[in-house]
Amino acid sequence: MSMSLSDPKSSLLRQRIDALGEWFHNLDLSGIPTAPNHFLGDYPRCKWESFAHCLPADLTGRTVLDIGCNAGFYAIEMKRRGAERVVAVDSDARYLAQARLAIEVLEVEIELRQLSVYEIRRLEEKFDLVLFLGVLYHLRHPLLALDLIHEHVARDLLVFQSMQRGSEEVLPLNSDYPFTDSGIFAQRGFPLMYFIENSYSGDPTNWWIPNKACVEAMLRSAGFEIIAHPETEVFICRWSDGPADVFREPSIPDYAR
Ligand SMILES: C[S@@+](CC[C@H](N)C(=O)[O-])C[C@H]1O[C@@H](n2cnc3c(N)ncnc32)[C@H](O)[C@@H]1O
Repeated sequence: MSMSLSDPKSSLLRQRIDALGEWFHNLDLSGIPTAPNHFLGDYPRCKWESFAHCLPADLTGRTVLDIGCNAGFYAIEMKRRGAERVVAVDSDARYLAQARLAIEVLEVEIELRQLSVYEIRRLEEKFDLVLFLGVLYHLRHPLLALDLIHEHVARDLLVFQSMQRGSEEVLPLNSDYPFTDSGIFAQRGFPLMYFIENSYSGDPTNWWIPNKACVEAMLRSAGFEIIAHPETEVFICRWSDGPADVFREPSIPDYAR
């Protein structure tokens, strides 16, 4: 139900929204937009609209995990599609407080947990659908995060999104290259990850930005088969048991498992 801003309930809600700081998700909370001036437009709705058709319209009986849920836009959409259980985690308590307000106002049932992707095995549960959207490039250890998701929480579908930079070409890869072949690294379609030592776009938590070939290669390497690519940044994947079972390698230290 939408409220007029002159109504006392509405101005109280506006105060509660503002008290939680700047919002990254533009949600409609009883007619009040939480981030109306977002630099990417009506975000993330504009992103969601580009891949919503790739996910089951009816999630009845399915479980969903949203990793890096922010204020809960996607978790809420999953609940609206009838998901039986939605768990949403984020490492940032401030964003979780926004999500808590959103689910209170929208009256949806979502379980929120403050958890880093690196601690994801603490959930001790596998989910039918895992969302990992807009988080990879904020991590210092991105491939470890994908490996942990594959090992501990993904059962079937993974919806993945990352900022990408560099070439959108994707070079078919050989299974091996000779030591003397340095030319391959100069080819635009070879997997490449840009390391940001300082800051990018005013955000010092942007650490690694892959090109498209690198996103695809990392997903495959972590054991996710890409089944749809509806939009430049978005990949719908299915869990598979190959190619590398990295967690059985004796070289992986316990703290990283
Ligand atoms: C760019 S926002 C993306 C939010 C949302 N998933 C989306 O696509 O709109 C990145 C989110 O990832 C969260 N995040 C960053 N590092 C994380 C980590 N190690 N574990 C879990 N969440 C993390 C941030 O707090 C933030 O909410």
